[in-house]
Amino acid sequence: MLVTGGAGFIGTNFVRYTLEHHPNYRITVVDKLTYAGNKKNLEGLDIEFIQGDICDSALMDELVGNAECVVHFAAESHNDNSLCDPSPFVQTNIVGTFQLLEAVRRHGVRFHHISTDEVFGDLALDDPARFTEDTPYRPSSPYSATKAGSDHLVRAWIRSFGIPATLSQCSNNYGPWQHIEKFIPRQITNILCGLTPKLYGTGEQVRDWIHVDDHSAAVHAILDRGRLGESYIIGADNDHVNNRRVISLICELMGLGPDAFELVADRPGHDQRYAMDSTKIRRELGWEPRYTDRDTGMRAGLEATIAWYREHEDFWRPEKESVESAYAKRGQ
Ligand code: NAD
Ligand code: TYD
Repeated sequence: MLVTGGAGFIGTNFVRYTLEHHPNYRITVVDKLTYAGNKKNLEGLDIEFIQGDICDSALMDELVGNAECVVHFAAESHNDNSLCDPSPFVQTNIVGTFQLLEAVRRHGVRFHHISTDEVFGDLALDDPARFTEDTPYRPSSPYSATKAGSDHLVRAWIRSFGIPATLSQCSNNYGPWQHIEKFIPRQITNILCGLTPKLYGTGEQVRDWIHVDDHSAAVHAILDRGRLGESYIIGADNDHVNNRRVISLICELMGLGPDAFELVADRPGHDQRYAMDSTKIRRELGWEPRYTDRDTGMRAGLEATIAWYREHEDFWRPEKESVESAYAKRGQ
């Protein structure tokens, strides 16, 4: 199995999940090691690691040619960065996916494309609808637009060239090894550093949070039993939990009052609500999320995540100051 972007947040968790639950795979990770990737995440694991760029067509040809299947996580993944400089997003998310698809076409290898719910744009806060596999694409940011572009390429390569591929659109993930620029680890590490947690705007926005291990299990269900050519929505039914509730819960779990956060400048073009209807993957492939406690669906997962960041200061501490100073310049 070739895993692209395997030194990033979800890729690292997926590699570890695969080694534990599907030890029949031999894994090669290819990762450019941008600011978001860290080779140390994979230290001590029985895998092959190659530092490389998915835009490098010769390298992709070689690596894909040696694989039986490819799981494609590599991407520029942070909305806030895409608003400052969209160019690496176009390059990696669109051109990089194109290079992989060409290699997959030449070698006839099984391909799974990791997409995101953000390709569907957003829902109004009072709209009870959920995204399904048939929801039209309406991306809002340079990040989501380039992810949407890559999905269109994958679908075109399936239809025009018959590549054996599947896609999945998952909602916001949380868990260990997530970069501290993202919402949940930023707040956890703020509290660990004695800084006040930061909530954008009024915090009414809704993200359908899912634990990263539930995402990894869903990808394996698709690899094992998914129908070629199909897309699968992955979500854990947490579309009743807004950002304010999540930040309050983090504060509570870390021994602060539920209002111990501050409101900061909102994100321009901020998507309001994401909500996932994951009926198809549940019915067809028998996948179910494991992190589903009653009030928020997140208490157990967040407790474990907080404990992980407490114990892994070496993962985040060296970058904390520079991440916060970049946010401070934007009033966030
Ligand atoms: P991440 O930013 O933590 O990791 C991305 C990884 O890709 C990094 O290791 C980086 O070094 C690598 N990379 C970037 N450009 C590369 C290139 N040109 N060539 C090779 N490697 C490159 O991202 P993540 O949160 O782990 O997301 C992984 C995938 O899952 C992305 O495709 C993202 O769109 C998708 N996704 C993420 C979420 C989420 O909540 N984080 C939700 C749904 C889907
Ligand atoms: P983020 O983790 O950047 O993921 P995405 O943009 O893919 O949804 O942000 C999740 C939500 O949290 C989003 O609504 C923006 C908000 N947010 C904050 O309120 N404060 C923060 O410090 C950050 C980084 C995000």
